[in-house]
Amino acid sequence: MFLTLRVRGPSLAVSSSEHRRRVARAFASSAAEEVKKAHQLEINRCTYATDNWTNVTPKILSYLGANKHLQNDHPLSIMRQRIVNYFYGAYRNQRGNPLFSVYDKLNPVVTVQQNFDNLLIPRDHVSRQKSDCYYINQQHLLRAHTTAHQVELISGGLDNFLVVGEVYRRDEIDCTHYPVFHQLDAVRLVTKDKLFERNPGLELFEETWTGKLADPRNILPSAKCMDQTKQPCHTLEAVKLMEHEMKHVLVGLTKELFGPRIRYRWVDTYFPFTQPSWELEIYFKDNWLEVLGCGIMRHEILQQAGVHQSIGYAFGVGLERLAMVLFDIPDIRLFWSNDSGFLSQFSEKDLHNLPKYKPVSHYPQCTNDLSFWLPPDVEVDAGFSANDFYDLVRSVAGDIVEQISLVDKFKHPKTGKSSVCFRIVYRHMERTLTQVEVNNIHKQIADASVENFNVQIR
Ligand code: DAH
Repeated sequence: MFLTLRVRGPSLAVSSSEHRRRVARAFASSAAEEVKKAHQLEINRCTYATDNWTNVTPKILSYLGANKHLQNDHPLSIMRQRIVNYFYGAYRNQRGNPLFSVYDKLNPVVTVQQNFDNLLIPRDHVSRQKSDCYYINQQHLLRAHTTAHQVELISGGLDNFLVVGEVYRRDEIDCTHYPVFHQLDAVRLVTKDKLFERNPGLELFEETWTGKLADPRNILPSAKCMDQTKQPCHTLEAVKLMEHEMKHVLVGLTKELFGPRIRYRWVDTYFPFTQPSWELEIYFKDNWLEVLGCGIMRHEILQQAGVHQSIGYAFGVGLERLAMVLFDIPDIRLFWSNDSGFLSQFSEKDLHNLPKYKPVSHYPQCTNDLSFWLPPDVEVDAGFSANDFYDLVRSVAGDIVEQISLVDKFKHPKTGKSSVCFRIVYRHMERTLTQVEVNNIHKQIADASVENFNVQIR
């Protein structure tokens, strides 16, 4: 029999105990394992064959189509609208129409080529690992960043565009990390005539450059890619003008969002798809906080997309991060809440008079530890991945898990067996959990761990 997983609306808040028991049972033979065993998976009306790369869980697939960034009056939708409005105003064509077009409903199922290869992400880059991404099979995954759509849109002839959508990453769980979050990416390409309107004698490309780049697949991130001055093909004038325009626009966006007095700084960084690259940080609550990544697009990427006579800048920004700062939202899980006490606080009507979030109330946390022996010859990161455990916990217990941390691990000197201890903090966003209820869920997690990872509870 085939197991087909159709896209559902968001399954949020806390599942009923019956549902939880069902999930626990499904997970008992490993949710991802079940999906894999079904041989094929239906997502957004496409069928994918599963293989030994498959690690998406039904829980993660249930987020597809939730579209929080398009939900009226949702804080993520407000962030999207404010950034889009800023870009509409900042760039207009001769007729006064916005230059940028917006793509906010692209399918989050992408190929490995789109998510990594097209963006020159080296074959051995850590971000490709199974333990970091949700793979549907060896060729397809749930996009790990909205940058994945760059090449397809440029190939389609676009030169100024914004992409908004949710992205999926396997990660630890705490108040600022969630396996699904939202990003906005932008690309702006300009030709020589446009960039040097006022200096017609200048060139985009070095005279000595032949117009040919080596096959991008053979290019490794060498010291040259890290060079913050420029890529060998570009002239310094072209890069400096683009850098100036990009930084001017992004500082403008930051001031538009956080007010004209916000403190900010540029930090040099490395991305495989841009050179030079920067991060923009803002000063918030006594800390420097990274808000976006950007840079001059690697020319190989434009060439692959059939664009030979332009230079481009690109940037990517996380919407939850911005909204948490702007509205003072303390916990990333709140973005998934359907509680009217939360949602009714935000409105798109007055984008310039945004309220601060007022906590509905504070419910107590419940902390339980879970320790187990790993099977013989298995260790953390050698046969057992903490991210697999986090996914199991999330599948069984859902959003009432606020934090999971690996608090202890050791190897028994005589038996050679490894032991691990995880601390799980439970807290419901909308009510007080009873200890009995938490113990019950904790037990289900323990049982599911025994069945899935063949561990022995201590
Ligand atoms: N994709 C990057 C991330 O997820 C963010 C990013 C950085 C996007 C630089 C860009 C860019 O388009 O040019 O961390």
